[in-house]
Amino acid sequence: MSCTVIVGGFFGDEGKGKIVAHIAHQDRPTIISRGGVGPNAGHTVRIGDKEFGVRMVPSGFVYPDARLMIGSGVLVDPRVLLREVDLLGVRGRIFVDGRCGIIEEEHIERDRGSEHLRSTIGSTGTGCGPANADRVMRTARQAKDVPEIADCITDVAREINVAIDAGEAVLLEGTQGFGISLFFGTYPYVTSKDTSASQIAADNGVGPTRIDDVIVVFKAYPTRVGEGPFATEMSSTRSHELGIEEYGTVTHRQRRIGLWDGEMARYSAMVNGCTQVAITGIDRVDRACYGVTEYERLTKKARDFIERAEEEIGRPVTLISTGPEMSQIIDLREQA
Ligand code: IMP
Ligand code: MG
Repeated sequence: MSCTVIVGGFFGDEGKGKIVAHIAHQDRPTIISRGGVGPNAGHTVRIGDKEFGVRMVPSGFVYPDARLMIGSGVLVDPRVLLREVDLLGVRGRIFVDGRCGIIEEEHIERDRGSEHLRSTIGSTGTGCGPANADRVMRTARQAKDVPEIADCITDVAREINVAIDAGEAVLLEGTQGFGISLFFGTYPYVTSKDTSASQIAADNGVGPTRIDDVIVVFKAYPTRVGEGPFATEMSSTRSHELGIEEYGTVTHRQRRIGLWDGEMARYSAMVNGCTQVAITGIDRVDRACYGVTEYERLTKKARDFIERAEEEIGRPVTLISTGPEMSQIIDLREQA
């Protein structure tokens, strides 16, 4: 039995998708299922020479041998889902829990029309906050009520627990990041739900005793989109000097860039019940590390960074991403 949860440790956009893709190809899960809020999250993929932000289909879709699922805790925007299913060619392989909450056009209008959500909080305008509010008020529709997606409805919780019982590997992918959790983040500058590993398990109907590994993904230079405190934020002049510039996948807003925050990483790892740490963007700490695939070939500067992070977090760093391609990674998990 092996059920792994992968979550973001900072404010989202840590590069979880790449870690999910790598682990999927290594561990060969039969199911990759998504938890988290909904289509406010985005994962950039390249199709031909076009970039596309995937917002509903699990980012593990690049691994062709797993069934893809969306757990009952997640909000589904049927229009976004159907577009992605066609574009990525995953029809027949993707399943949605019938109990997922549905985002209506009206939720998007309320999100975008609200001065509080749009300007003060800096929401993504994808309707998630209002849809979760209606879900709590018990007035929202569920996925099973939407005829257009009837052919992909299933009981995700049952499917996953049956797979775990059969000794199959299952990957649960989180979205967003710890710092924007409704429960643990910088309230009120947060998303409309918890984003920690326990929530991702709950979103999929997997009990805490059935989780074997929690991989928390941190990026060497954390980023934040939208409003809210960011303790280690650097000036745009400084990030420009470092050559770091990022834009949000969903909103295309420029991401705020910060320095590594060891204190936040430690706290985040604690609440997430982290068993292993993944660090992405190590090539930004030292360009000479770009594309390196063996730990011994990292520069001293990069190794010092990782060793310090490991000490601060108190958990082993087992995955180190050295570039955007799937092969640009150091995997130390066997030795862990
Ligand atoms: P909402 O989730 O659209 O309501 O947005 C609330 C806050 O969470 C805003 O600051 C968003 O920028 C942020 N947020 C929501 N989803 C993500 C994500 O997937 N990555 C990064 N930030 C996010
Ligand atoms: Mg993202």
